[in-house]
Amino acid sequence: MKYDNIFNLQGKVAVVAGGAGLIGKELVRGLAEMGAMVILADIDAEKGNIYVKRLTSLNLKASFKYLDITKEKSVINLINYIGKEYGRIDAWINCVYPKTKDWGVKFEYVSVKSWKKNVDMHLTGFFISCQKIAEYMKKQKRGSIINMASIYGMVGPDFSIYKDTKMTTPAAYSAIKGGIITFTKYLASYYGKYNVRVNCISPGGIYDRQPVKFVQNYNRKVPLKRMADKEDVVGAAIYLASDASRYVTGHNLVVDGGWTIV
Ligand SMILES: NC(=O)c1ccc[n+]([C@@H]2O[C@H](COP(=O)([O-])OP(=O)(O)OC[C@H]3O[C@@H](n4cnc5c(N)ncnc54)[C@H](O)[C@@H]3O)[C@@H](O)[C@H]2O)c1
Repeated sequence: MKYDNIFNLQGKVAVVAGGAGLIGKELVRGLAEMGAMVILADIDAEKGNIYVKRLTSLNLKASFKYLDITKEKSVINLINYIGKEYGRIDAWINCVYPKTKDWGVKFEYVSVKSWKKNVDMHLTGFFISCQKIAEYMKKQKRGSIINMASIYGMVGPDFSIYKDTKMTTPAAYSAIKGGIITFTKYLASYYGKYNVRVNCISPGGIYDRQPVKFVQNYNRKVPLKRMADKEDVVGAAIYLASDASRYVTGHNLVVDGGWTIV
C-alpha cells in the first residue's frame, strides 16, 4: 500500500448537507480541492448557488442542489438525483443547523413547542438523512457518513464564558448533539457489516465575529488559547471521508483546541 495519496478524493462523489453555511462552505471547498465532485445541498439556494459559481470558476468540481433535510421527500429526491447523475455517493456530511427564531432564549423561557420544533428539525433531520443515505450506501457496499456534532453534545456548557454578554447556549442544543453522537454509534454498529462507516465530528466554538468579551472568555479557557477557525474542521472531514479512515467507524472526532480535556 502506498500512503502518499491516502487522503485523495479523486473520483469520489461527496454531499455536504448544509453546505452553504459557515462550516459547510469550507467543507465543500476542502473536499473539492482534494479532488471530489461535491454536491452542496442546502435550503438556501441563493447562497448555495453563489458559492458553487465561485468554486467552479476555480475549476473545482461542485454543484448546488436544493435540500430541506426535515422533509423525507426532499432527501430521497436528492439521493435519487445524485445516484442517476453520478452513479455513486461516497461521502455524505450532515452539516445543517436548522433552528427556530427564538433559538438562544434563556432556559427558563423556552416553550415546549419551541423545544419540540428544534429537536424535530435538527435531530430528526439527521435521522431522516442518515436513514436514507445509509440504505443507499448499503446497496453500493461502501460509504462514509459524517455527522456534525459539538463539544456541547459531550460536556455541559461552562456558562462563565457568556458572562457580560447577551449570549447563552440552548439546552436543546446539548440534547440534540448528545443524541447525534450516540445515534452515530448506533448507525456505525448497524451498518458496519455493509462497509458503511458512520462517524461524527465535534468542533468547539468557531470564531464568527462574536462579542469581544465572549471571545476573550473563551480563549482564556481553551488550552490552545483561541476559538476554532472554520478552516480547522476541514482536515477532520477529509480524513473521515477518505480511505485514510477506512477502519474507523462510530468515532467522535473532537476538534476543540482541547476544550473537553480540561
Ligand atoms: N459554528 C459553530 O461554532 C459550531 C460548533 C460546533 C458544531 N457546529 C455544528 O456544525 C454544523 C454547521 O454549523 P454552522 O455554524 O456552519 O451553521 P450555519 O447556520 O452557518 O449553516 C447551517 C446551514 O444549514 C442550512 N440549513 C438550515 N436548515 C436546513 C434544512 N432544513 N435543510 C437543509 N439545509 C438547512 C442553512 O441554510 C445553512 O446554510 C451545525 O450542525 C452546528 O451545530 C457548529
